[in-house]
Amino acid sequence: MALSLAACSSGGSSEGGEGGGALVGVAMPTKSSERWIQDGDAVKKQLEDEGFKVDLQYAEDDIPTQVSQIENMITKGAEALIIASIDGTTLTQVLQDAADADIPVIAYDRLIRDTENVSYYASFDNFKVGQQQATSVLNGLGLVDLEGNAIDGAPAGPFNIEMFAGSPDDNNATFFWDGAQDTLKPFIDAGTLVVKSGQTSFEQAATLRWDGETAQKRMENILTSSYSDGTKVNGILSPYDGISRGIISALTDAGYSAGEEWPIISGQDAELDSVKAINNSGEQYATIFKDTRKLATAAVEMTVAVLNDEKPEVNNTEDYDNGKFVVPSFLLDSQIVVKDNVNEVLVESGYWTAEEIG
Ligand code: BGC
Repeated sequence: MALSLAACSSGGSSEGGEGGGALVGVAMPTKSSERWIQDGDAVKKQLEDEGFKVDLQYAEDDIPTQVSQIENMITKGAEALIIASIDGTTLTQVLQDAADADIPVIAYDRLIRDTENVSYYASFDNFKVGQQQATSVLNGLGLVDLEGNAIDGAPAGPFNIEMFAGSPDDNNATFFWDGAQDTLKPFIDAGTLVVKSGQTSFEQAATLRWDGETAQKRMENILTSSYSDGTKVNGILSPYDGISRGIISALTDAGYSAGEEWPIISGQDAELDSVKAINNSGEQYATIFKDTRKLATAAVEMTVAVLNDEKPEVNNTEDYDNGKFVVPSFLLDSQIVVKDNVNEVLVESGYWTAEEIG
């Protein structure tokens, strides 16, 4: 396989691209979140443009479904796999089957853990994403600018904040959390920020499967247990737009009203409903834009390279230890989006149109 692809690519931009009709299996976690639909579409299109055939599957966040989808891809003769895992620790056996069939595996956005059978990892700088999420909360509270620099004459606080984390089985969730804590810590230590619920550990803050309803319930419980005395929560660290929307529902149900008393809420993924909430209602303050088109390009380039027995470009060989080895990674940059730069970051890049954002 490697030989035929190499032969194909050595002829320059050969007809049909580098793929030569080879099948690539693409396993995505769920369609319930817009970003993964965009990821799947972008990876499929870019692979097809390279001349590959594509088997794109979504597992609706069900682990056995994802495992059997990957098994099917192997049976169908996939020559490479691109996988965004649901639980990064559950693919060890199926990836052994892939390795036995000499099928290279690219971990897509989420690190696949506990296996030697992953070739490369394409993602974003996830620690930095967490720092950006925290910076966006601090920015909304008037404490720092969007680069994280202190603002002269910033309010002294104290501000009440609450913190949410992502799914504990997703390697990214701890990176986001650690990055965010790194940025928030000096403000918590100085007493500028107070976590009124006292729920400051990752375990307390985690949200299984990144589920918005789970987050909504936790927010409701926190409002009941820690804010019934009439004090208000001023800022909420949220690691994902779907979690932010759950939090917003809890606040609305608890009688928070738009304007002065509405808290600053972060997010991630620039999902359309959340971008609208940033741009129009103001219920969400910020999100983090991760350009899924660029991530798709990185994963497709890795796939082409490994199938040609070439080394793809990587820019991190230190941070992503999957429990067996440090997986060579290519990490992309992310951007904070607030109302002021929605147009510049999301519309001018063609990610959303002005009409879609409304
Ligand atoms: C991704 C985030 C996403 C989250 C929930 C993470 O692995 O990196 O972009 O918000 O999963 O889907």
